[in-house]
Amino acid sequence: MIQIAPSLLAADLLRIGDQVMSCEQAGADILHVDVMDGHFVPPITFGPAFVKGLRAITSMPLDVHLMVTNPDHQVEQFAEAGAHWISVHAEVAPHLHRTLARIKNLGCRAGVVLNPATPLEYAFEAAGDADFILLMSVNPGYGGQSFIPSFLTRCERVRTWLDTNGLSNVQIEVDGGIKIDNARQAVDAGASILVSGSGLFQGDLKANISAMRQVISA
Ligand code: DX5
Ligand code: ZN
Repeated sequence: MIQIAPSLLAADLLRIGDQVMSCEQAGADILHVDVMDGHFVPPITFGPAFVKGLRAITSMPLDVHLMVTNPDHQVEQFAEAGAHWISVHAEVAPHLHRTLARIKNLGCRAGVVLNPATPLEYAFEAAGDADFILLMSVNPGYGGQSFIPSFLTRCERVRTWLDTNGLSNVQIEVDGGIKIDNARQAVDAGASILVSGSGLFQGDLKANISAMRQVISA
């Protein structure tokens, strides 16, 4: 099953309750929460209090993407706040197996994130301890950027590697520049979780989610 994960980075934060309800009603599967620390990436976004607030208004799984320099310092707080999925960047997680184990021990699904130029070896080394691999299709930090096409080959390589190494259960999530018109390509390359911010929140949110669902189910 392909899961659609609207990225709340592109939401209207003053109407967040309504926007979350619209995501739910339109059949989105997961809410993607971009946590940026002003260090690993320049912007500062959401903290655990935001996740806790979301948890109080929805039962949708919360997918917390930690774009922070010291993820080990953060995973516990976000798990306690109500995150279901937590992913950490391989570029800043030197003790990846330990970090992934910690996330799982907190009762969350654990993911490893790779920037577009990070060698895929990182994913291969950590995949056995991960529930999902998040392959960035833009350099992280900002919404509304263009999809980097080399993602498609990287995704195919990771999917093939996982399937030939007995890890078919490990999902691939794609994040960055995913829109209705390229979602199908990402799915065909092996992604089963599609993060989309501006592609869904610009215009009619519900109609966009339905249109993306149609494209990927066709
Ligand atoms: C980028 C974030 C993404 C971002 C995607 O650093 O990780 O989740 O919100 O936004 P779009 O879909 O607009 O590229
Ligand atoms: Zn993200």
